[in-house]
Amino acid sequence: MAKQRILSGVQPTGNLHLGNYLGAIRNWVEVQENYDNFFCVVDLHAITVPHDPKILAKDTYTIAALYLACGIDLNNSTIFVQSHISAHSELTWLLNCITPLNWLEKMIQFKEKALKQGENVSVGLLDYPVLMAADILLYDADKVPVGDDQKQHLELTRDIAVRINDKFGKKKEPILKLPEALIRKEGARIMSLTDGTKKMSKSDPSELSRISLLDSPDVINKKIKKCKTDPLKGLEFDNPERPECHNLLTLYSLLSGKNKEEVKAECSEMGWGQFKPLLTETTIEALKPIQEKYQEIMDNQGYLNGVLKEGKEKAEAVANNTLSRVKKAMGYLTLN
Ligand code: TYM
Repeated sequence: MAKQRILSGVQPTGNLHLGNYLGAIRNWVEVQENYDNFFCVVDLHAITVPHDPKILAKDTYTIAALYLACGIDLNNSTIFVQSHISAHSELTWLLNCITPLNWLEKMIQFKEKALKQGENVSVGLLDYPVLMAADILLYDADKVPVGDDQKQHLELTRDIAVRINDKFGKKKEPILKLPEALIRKEGARIMSLTDGTKKMSKSDPSELSRISLLDSPDVINKKIKKCKTDPLKGLEFDNPERPECHNLLTLYSLLSGKNKEEVKAECSEMGWGQFKPLLTETTIEALKPIQEKYQEIMDNQGYLNGVLKEGKEKAEAVANNTLSRVKKAMGYLTLN
């Protein structure tokens, strides 16, 4: 039986943080053998907020190299850049024309980001989830491994696919496949180091709020030293009064590979003075092999270019096929 397909992606806006890694990429790596995988660097999404053209290409390389450094295996997976495949933009337009405006206005991420941008908010930011739907639907993805914050966008993707199928498909022959979100319980929502009630995010103005995968040991040490804690004795999971404590223990559990029970047994009697150096050491050790591999890949641009060229070819064949299917169903003229 053919393997089910996975598609996922990350925006090239700065390098990745522990939320992106633990919420998404680590899960891609863990399940990749069981699926046929497509992982894209979503550079068209990266310009939905103001961006710097001088660093877009460099950031795109960085993310592709980090996919490989985190353990994406090219024997099971295809890595490509979203803007290299014009079908993403073209399907977005077709989907735009059947998506009601009020579906997009309800998106939580749009509302949050739009608030920050005031009058400068672009049409692109509103349309972001439709482009994401096109990314997923073009590859007939069965599963989409993402963090918790993308759940609503996945529901919208399914609604858009149902609408296309209902309007233009035949009952027994749907045009687009309905994808499912793959969200792991632990790590699906890693919180900020400076406020345990807020998501760790690339757009937080404070660098101290997140640990990036390429942070040096000194920087990691400084960020964990300064991270927010509380004055209570002992450490515990799941106490709503102690969001920072829950988040830091979760980070320790995921980065050390110890389960919740093991972490409870090890840390429940500890104070912050004992726990912080332990978390620092564990984080540095977990990121070291990723950082070493990343450097190797970045030192060999020829190799990375080759990976992305091959990725483009493989992805383009699949994407163009789906695009033709949708255009045909929508009644477009084709010349033979
Ligand atoms: P981006 O770049 O904002 O996030 C990439 C992935 O990281 C997850 N994530 C988190 N997980 C846990 N805790 C956090 N604090 C945290 N912050 C981010 C996100 O859920 C995501 O899985 N819209 C997508 C990019 C995208 C995409 C797609 C994803 C575009 N097209 C198609 C899947 C399929 C995004 O949020 O990127």
